[in-house]
Amino acid sequence: MAPVRYTRAPNVYSRVQYENEEDGLLTVAKELTAQSTYPEYLPTWNKKEKYEPLKFYEHHDVGLKADPSFPNLLPKGTATTKNITPKLGVEVKGIQISELNDSGKDELALLVAQKGLVVFRDQDIASKGPEFSVEFGRYFGPLHIHPTSGAPRTAAELHVVYRRPDAKNLFENRTNLIQWHSDVSYELQPPGTTFFTVVEGPESGGDTLFADAAEAYNRLSPAFQKRLEGLHALHSGVEQANFSKRGGGVVKREPVQNIHPLIRTHPVTGQKSIYVNSGFTRKIVELKEEESEYLLNFLYDHINNSHDLQARANWLPGTVAVWDNRRVNHSAVLDWDTSATRLAYRITPTAERPVYDLKDLNTPDVSKPYVGADYTPSD
Ligand SMILES: [Fe+2]
Repeated sequence: MAPVRYTRAPNVYSRVQYENEEDGLLTVAKELTAQSTYPEYLPTWNKKEKYEPLKFYEHHDVGLKADPSFPNLLPKGTATTKNITPKLGVEVKGIQISELNDSGKDELALLVAQKGLVVFRDQDIASKGPEFSVEFGRYFGPLHIHPTSGAPRTAAELHVVYRRPDAKNLFENRTNLIQWHSDVSYELQPPGTTFFTVVEGPESGGDTLFADAAEAYNRLSPAFQKRLEGLHALHSGVEQANFSKRGGGVVKREPVQNIHPLIRTHPVTGQKSIYVNSGFTRKIVELKEEESEYLLNFLYDHINNSHDLQARANWLPGTVAVWDNRRVNHSAVLDWDTSATRLAYRITPTAERPVYDLKDLNTPDVSKPYVGADYTPSD
């Protein structure tokens, strides 16, 4: 495939912020480690860590096994729920996801598939240590190991998002830092049920915005929906890998580009959603460049700017947000200008190869490292 041009690198990529290097392991400064209340989650980057291209596997979503009356996840008299907005997201209080049995986890996957976003308050999962989160997340699917981001020293499978207290003014060259995306959509089998928690954060600020791309699909006219049928989009991890290299970071797995249907169907709910995001989508492959740009810009504007299909989650201590990356796009809000640290981590179970028609579910496919002018492979 010919290299795909792009003009501006998004900033959804984690910055490398190390100060120590010991035998190929990059870590943050000792003073910052000493200040942290959750040092076991601070990011490390291991230059020696290398992974082969991801291979296809059959994904059978655990949400399909769930009891739709949610007896384990939402026991009557214990759990309380409240819609975040009428269109997207539900807040749950009164239960610990760390204590769920397998049936409860199945129900969690179903609830997240149905609602798009579920925000659990007062959770203890982070206090159980990184390894617990890894084991917990594996139930939902093989965990994605991020090709460039930092991870806790003891848990390569967790994706860490870290802003240090002395971070420079990020608005120096930008008027805003909103970057809508769906996590690692360039992978052959991108994430499904995805968990995120902030273990250290500012008193206010650093919220996350969510947009429902299934509702965005439903809002389109039948004629427009029909026009999108059968189109495919190219998603690329190349720019993210280049960004990491430029900053002295790591590339643990060579980047890939994958082509996914523009409209995908959820294997649990049967719902269709628009599967493009301004972070990683580069082109609609069936269209000429200008046509592709025109249509993608319309879809980005539609999803990113329709606030009446969105929700916003704030990160109170102990909040765990779980969203379905197959139908929900999101953006961080990097709005605080105090010296507060923000340390967060993501548990990222992968899901099925995206399909338009569920009859194609679990059809084998390959993921190959990108070969082209835009990227020079690592040694
Ligand atoms: Fe993200």
